[in-house]
Amino acid sequence: MGKDVIVACDFPSAEDCREFLKKFSGVERKPYVKIGMELFYSCGPDIVREIKALGHGVFLDLKLCDIPNTVRRAMKSVSSLGADIVNVHAFGGIDMMRAAKEGIAEGGGSTKVIAVTVLTSIAPEKLGAELLIDRPLADAASAFALNVKTAGLDGVVCSVYEAGKIHGICGRDFLTVTPGIRFGGSDVGDQARVATPEFAKEQGSDYIVVGRPITKAADPVSAYTQCLAGFAG
Ligand code: C5P
Repeated sequence: MGKDVIVACDFPSAEDCREFLKKFSGVERKPYVKIGMELFYSCGPDIVREIKALGHGVFLDLKLCDIPNTVRRAMKSVSSLGADIVNVHAFGGIDMMRAAKEGIAEGGGSTKVIAVTVLTSIAPEKLGAELLIDRPLADAASAFALNVKTAGLDGVVCSVYEAGKIHGICGRDFLTVTPGIRFGGSDVGDQARVATPEFAKEQGSDYIVVGRPITKAADPVSAYTQCLAGFAG
């Protein structure tokens, strides 16, 4: 597992997503697909089964954050969908994260569970001002990562800038999945802590999550191939 480009399929409908994925039908290394809230809430769980049946790896980005019992039961439902990775927010605490893992096991599945440390859209100055966390961003991300490890989860979603430190603290096998990827000079959008595929490789990220730089590209297949070459080549 690891060293793959995950394409964030942030589309409003299953039809839009199918049309997009058709472009990749002749591509040798099929992209790993991230199904986020937009697609999941508009299409329901069948979209996970459909994309898995097309032969793609699936990261189900639901970012759950609720009381442990609710998260356990939600994960039990998710378990049978066959996603490869699903996630929660580390902010929900260690008990909630443990419950997420237990829910997957209770459902009989083997989906890996990872947790978001600090969203890549959060700039350092917002951490104290808006999230009321009074420590440097890299320290907060590492402290959350340690909680994630303590809870027995498989890894974290973090920015490229924290991936090396988190591997140092939590071990090389602890997955780092890093969004906020941009080609040099391209539009940052609502992201704050962005990095190129090449820099993500240097920092030891296991997976990069790339949305708009691929989905909105004039030629999505070549943008994907460029990402793959820069990150996993
Ligand atoms: O379009 P873009 O490349 O910015 O998309 C990044 C994707 O990664 C989005 O689907 C977003 O929800 C997700 N993500 C993120 N930061 C996190 C966790 C997930 O940007 N910390």
